[in-house]
Amino acid sequence: MNVLIIGSGGREHALAWRLAESPSVKRVFAAPGNPGIAQSATCLAGCNYLQLAADNGIDLTIVGPEAPLIEGVVDQFRQAGRTIFGPVQAAAQLEGSKIFSKNFFARHAIPTARFHTALSEVDALKALDDFIAPVVLKADGLAAGKGVVIAHTMEEARATVKQFMAGELAGTAGQRLVIEEFLIGEEVSFIALSDGTTILPLLPSQDHKNIFDNDQGPNTGGMGAYVDERILTSAQTQTVMETVMRPAIDGMRKEGSPFTGFLYAGLMMTAGGPKTLEFNVRLGDPETQPILYRMRSDFAKVLHAGATGKLHNETLEWSQKPAVGIVLAAEGYPGKPVTGDGISGIEAAESLGGKVFHAGTKRNERGEIVTSGGRVLTITADGPTLLEAMENAYRAAAPIRFRGMQFRKDIGKKGLKRW
Ligand code: AMP
Ligand code: GLY
Repeated sequence: MNVLIIGSGGREHALAWRLAESPSVKRVFAAPGNPGIAQSATCLAGCNYLQLAADNGIDLTIVGPEAPLIEGVVDQFRQAGRTIFGPVQAAAQLEGSKIFSKNFFARHAIPTARFHTALSEVDALKALDDFIAPVVLKADGLAAGKGVVIAHTMEEARATVKQFMAGELAGTAGQRLVIEEFLIGEEVSFIALSDGTTILPLLPSQDHKNIFDNDQGPNTGGMGAYVDERILTSAQTQTVMETVMRPAIDGMRKEGSPFTGFLYAGLMMTAGGPKTLEFNVRLGDPETQPILYRMRSDFAKVLHAGATGKLHNETLEWSQKPAVGIVLAAEGYPGKPVTGDGISGIEAAESLGGKVFHAGTKRNERGEIVTSGGRVLTITADGPTLLEAMENAYRAAAPIRFRGMQFRKDIGKKGLKRW
């Protein structure tokens, strides 16, 4: 089959690379793609994805980022009778609206932080009386990583409510708020794929969201991730499947919007069991890079089964080795990144056994690869132990250079205690 991947980041490069190796795939296309994706796929310009799918004889479309899902690209493809793997707009609200998702958790008894939703400043300030610091404030809509504030005192919480309601922190998205209790524990990214009924979990992973080592500094989209079965015991995996994933997939189906696609639960593993911080309706970035590094199945065949309600016939096979993905980010990130800097050492990194996934890169007028976004590359490698996977990934990343490059030196470190 011919597959089309929508998106242009490191996650989409990992998808293109893995799908190009799928025995059932003839050709891979990406819209818009990037210079790394171009090694595995034909990159297409334009954002009328339905037209691109028709023009290129696409049998299966896979959506990387959330924005097209929330805009309804899956509904559009379905209406045109084209096969696509992703949730319809109504189901994508699980990521598009925190108020929708928290109320959905409540309707289906999915464990989550105790919360209150507030639509006005008066309401939000009054609701704060039921919480103690630290307290978490979340903008309802998509806010490009700026929508969550952890207030350490009630005074800070009140000031933050006022800023959100004035539109200063997240625009109109912040004028509808979720206020919730602060949870303590380790965060786990638990991603599964579903055809609306059957659920196939991917391997568990951990992201590293802060810009600096030891989880210091501002939040980013993710500075690196590792994939290791030991992140969850089999009992914990079972609990997550039974208390989070199964009620979510069944709940969406019962509410008339069966969830087809990747469902990503951001979990906090608390003393009282796993609690759902959020759902994303897509694969994680950078989690996808080390996850797909370990995939051994004919992934296109599984995704096609997912898109057509036949996932019950499929299983997923994985390599046995932990994998680590290190993000190399541009100067200025997670603020406005500096772009246009030349990148060297990519071939050297690959000859050292690392897989270099491109995110914010482009070719300049001379054909050289330069930086073009905040997160630039994800260097991924595996090893017989988590420590060796980390060493292999860092060794491979060592030759890569661009001006102002930032990266964390501790990706995977929090998993070493399990070895
Ligand atoms: P979210 O976009 O809801 O996943 O929130 C972004 C980040 O804020 C999460 O990855 C957590 O690190 C943190 N966070 C969100 N909600 C909570 C909570 N209730 N307790 C503690 N930390 C939280
Ligand atoms: N790595 C976090 C996310 O993809 O949302």
